[in-house]
Amino acid sequence: MYDFKIAAADKETLYRDLARALEGLIAGEPDPIANMANAIALIWETLPDLNWAGFYRNVSGELVVGPFQGRPACIRIPFGQGVCGTAAATLQVQRIDDVHAFPGHIACDAASNSELVMPIVGEDGKLIAVLDLDSPKTARFNEEDEAGCVRLAQILARVL
Ligand code: SME
Repeated sequence: MYDFKIAAADKETLYRDLARALEGLIAGEPDPIANMANAIALIWETLPDLNWAGFYRNVSGELVVGPFQGRPACIRIPFGQGVCGTAAATLQVQRIDDVHAFPGHIACDAASNSELVMPIVGEDGKLIAVLDLDSPKTARFNEEDEAGCVRLAQILARVL
């Protein structure tokens, strides 16, 4: 049984503890689905104010939904479309304070108001997947969340 008790007073400590827990969770496990499933359960349990958290995998140049927590979601997203597709096409983190103001935003869950999407890139520079976090709160994610989640994406890149 894994029982990570992460209750940090500030975001820097929260993300440091979350990164450590993630390292422990994936240590020695080469299966990408197992690692994505456990990683997203940990993130979902640890980060407050999320209504969806999950992976979209790069399957032959198209994003296909992977392990997630939250409501059933869109299955396939073309590169370049929506927030996730933009992260995939540009390999740039997308931190969107108000998804309704994002041109082409794909509303999988009407409760989502802000979104943070990290590309997960392999050593060859190619996209493996994106990590997508949605919140019902507008502007839920700040620079510290972005830095903390980029660190998580870097850890995951080694085992996906
Ligand atoms: N809102 C995303 C689609 C995925 S869902 O949020 C789960 C987007 O615009 O890419």
